[in-house]
Amino acid sequence: MINKMVHAKWRSERLSQLGSSIFAEVASWKLQAMADGRDIIDLGIGSPDQPPTPAVRQALATAALREDMYAYPATRSGLPFRESAAAWMRHRFGVTLDPASEIVTLMGSQDGLAHLAMALCDSGDMALLPDPGYPIYAASLALAGVERVLLPLRAENGFMPDLEALPDEIWNRATFILLNYPNNPLSAVVDLTFFERLLEKARKHDVLVVHDLAYSEMGFDGCEPPSILQVPGAMEQAVEFHSLSKSFNMAGSRIGFLCGNREAVGALRELKANIDYGVFDPVQEAGIVALQEAIASPGKPKAGKLYERRRDVLIEALRKEGWHIDPPKATMFIWAPLPPMAWTLGQPWSSRLISQEMLKATGVVVVPGEAFGAEGEGYVRIALVESEERLLEAARRIGVFIREGAPKNS
Ligand SMILES: Cc1ncc(COP(=O)(O)O)c(C=O)c1O
Repeated sequence: MINKMVHAKWRSERLSQLGSSIFAEVASWKLQAMADGRDIIDLGIGSPDQPPTPAVRQALATAALREDMYAYPATRSGLPFRESAAAWMRHRFGVTLDPASEIVTLMGSQDGLAHLAMALCDSGDMALLPDPGYPIYAASLALAGVERVLLPLRAENGFMPDLEALPDEIWNRATFILLNYPNNPLSAVVDLTFFERLLEKARKHDVLVVHDLAYSEMGFDGCEPPSILQVPGAMEQAVEFHSLSKSFNMAGSRIGFLCGNREAVGALRELKANIDYGVFDPVQEAGIVALQEAIASPGKPKAGKLYERRRDVLIEALRKEGWHIDPPKATMFIWAPLPPMAWTLGQPWSSRLISQEMLKATGVVVVPGEAFGAEGEGYVRIALVESEERLLEAARRIGVFIREGAPKNS
């Protein structure tokens, strides 16, 4: 009774800890700009603007027409998709996995990330998260009642955590550490040496390393982002999330997987068996085709190629407008220090204020760095999810905004 008087009646307090409010705010700014008649160039959410290949779409369509595809997916073994995932991991990273026990299929990696802390920890446990970090990481801990300790990722350290700066007693208390390279929102990449150091530290303190590799196929300039499971012995101490969303333009059809350490993979599988009945079989069929196509045509340009060209176009166009940004080495995002504003509002610029004013004035949507954690202040994230022509137009409008505060004719 008292509880009902203090808190909202039909809404849990936990929801306030999910950190999604700033994204909702950006969405409301966008709606307002649309209502004001602005032509919107949405560089906010990292949703691919390309379709999967024709063979992937055909596989989905053919399977969807089959009469036997409409039972609960859990009534089948689900093994064919996991076998394809294992074959792709071997092909792409040289990593050998047992599809039966070392891979669990997910409705996108977000599904697994959201449930991860619940599967691995008890309430009151603690885990280590990056700051800035992809929002579901903190949300997963909040849902599970797990305490978080944040690891700052700063430019001076190449956006890697300072593993030695963290006291031993914190390492000893942590159940897992969650990191993500190529990174969203930072676009930073690491090499295997970093993973080796990380695993050594984790082994010493018996901490599970969870690596989120959503952007493995989106390296630029010849960069091939590695899997943490390539490090010898990693299977004892690590798991890795993979997503078909960005690599194969399948974001809407929701499929990904977690692989690696069998105890941790098994824990997530067990939890999910209680929550859902698996990924729709036609989507698994389409996923199999996507993975098999990648294996069959190793020389084919990967998803990253498109974003590499867009990166070059936008970085150069913004440079001409006076906004100098280091080109990212991977992902579909540019992590940009706030632009040098030639005008002022009479209050200090923050990432939130610049994003809001920029959207009002130009119709260009970007995400304030603050949305990803306190360490994100001073930056905005720009997603390369529009055509080169639209990116050039965005840069032109942003140039006017930086100089004058409002574009003349858009
Ligand atoms: C770092 C990172 N992890 C996970 C995800 C979720 O991907 P999925 O579509 O597989 O759920 C995203 C999506 O943007 C992401 O950026």
